[in-house]
Amino acid sequence: MSEQDKNDALWGGRFQDAPEEFTQEFGASLPVDQRLWRSDIAGSIAHAKMLARQDIISDEDADAIVDGLNRIAADIESGDFDFDIADEDIHMAIERRLTEMIGEAGGRLHTGRSRNDQVATDTRHCCKQLAEGLMSQVNDLRATLIALAERELGTIMPGYTHLQKAQPVLFSHHILAYYWMFTRDFGRLRFAYAAADVLPLGSAALAGTTYPLDRDLIAEELDFSSVSPNSMDAVSDRDFVCDLTYAASVAMMHLSRLCEELILWSSDEFGFITLSDAYATGSSIMPQKKNPDFAELIRGKTGRVYGDLMALLTTLKALPLAYDKDMQEDKEGLFDAVDTLSSSLAVMGGMLQTLTVNAERMAEGAKGGFMAATDLADYLVGQGMAFREAHAIIGKLVLDCEQRGVTLQDLSAEELAAVDEHLDEGALAALDLEKIVAARTTDGGTGNEAVTAQLRTAKETLQDDQLGMLT
Ligand code: ARG
Repeated sequence: MSEQDKNDALWGGRFQDAPEEFTQEFGASLPVDQRLWRSDIAGSIAHAKMLARQDIISDEDADAIVDGLNRIAADIESGDFDFDIADEDIHMAIERRLTEMIGEAGGRLHTGRSRNDQVATDTRHCCKQLAEGLMSQVNDLRATLIALAERELGTIMPGYTHLQKAQPVLFSHHILAYYWMFTRDFGRLRFAYAAADVLPLGSAALAGTTYPLDRDLIAEELDFSSVSPNSMDAVSDRDFVCDLTYAASVAMMHLSRLCEELILWSSDEFGFITLSDAYATGSSIMPQKKNPDFAELIRGKTGRVYGDLMALLTTLKALPLAYDKDMQEDKEGLFDAVDTLSSSLAVMGGMLQTLTVNAERMAEGAKGGFMAATDLADYLVGQGMAFREAHAIIGKLVLDCEQRGVTLQDLSAEELAAVDEHLDEGALAALDLEKIVAARTTDGGTGNEAVTAQLRTAKETLQDDQLGMLT
């Protein structure tokens, strides 16, 4: 590029010196924000049409602008658009090309507009689409979790607290716990969508403009629900980017917890599940290895998404009103967080659909750890004993079993009766894992009937959320 061309930046009039190449690169956001091109073109078309409707520019100029922008869109789509870092950002790149193509009319597009309200509009427009994409992906994962819980209904596994065996639960109950996490993630994404759904265009640089713009018309054309009420807030607000990145962070946190469990469960020590070969990798040296790399990677990538959120919050901290160039840093982390969550959701879906549940290993595990102890104590309570006394008696029995190397289920009726006269025949039944699980009848508990009811509610909430997305 010649020195003269360099000086031809869109604000060239005021400037005598051309920028250095490295400062130009430093200041440019084009490599990141070119991803906003669809939103930028949609926003410019809406703006041009409104300008003509308000008699601020002529219909001929508006037609030429719209036609030119559509041709640019086709060129970008087909990869024929020449992105040049000297253009700084996607807004300048498109406007420069438009003026090259259609001449003077192109120079009228930016009437009553600043890049400050333009970038805020583009980013919000794009965030709405990104949030929608993630919402539907989250719903796909919710459907996968429901299908898995339904398929394995009846499978018993050890439930843990402190990662120590606690009480037997249904595997479906455990899986549905994740269903509810992702249901809340859907709600957070929907909130982020609504947060982005406000039109800043018409705020100009910071103070509004002297042209008689019709902001409602643009909002309607671009499908924004409302227009921003304060031009200074409109150009400096990036809360909606925080909201989406936060929603992504929490969803990644949930994925990472599920990954951690899949990793544990697929170890030889647990053996509760077997991951499909498609979701595992081998070792270059140890022929026997099958590693849960993909689950580990999702777990690892969670840290990066948190980083994106922290970077954004830190960038925004203490920024004075109104627009500051610092805010240009918002998009890299936003796109990274969204892309990382999107690919992680896809991988998790495939991993869950293809894993094998080893029901016998889970049942075997549920026999260990004295998990019937609470129920045995409850049995004594049923016989009229105070819970604290029952707790002490069963606690001593567990210690005794542990020292002898036997489980509660190994005890005979005589051995039980010898511990306490109340531990009669009925106590043997209290040791049955299936009965123990089935007895957890509280709403939201692990009893078979409660879980069947929970499955029904889960399906209903998913259906509501899916329908809600279409309206
Ligand atoms: N590339 C800029 C951004 O992403 C666009 C807005 C620039 N505005 C300005 N006055 N320099 O924030």
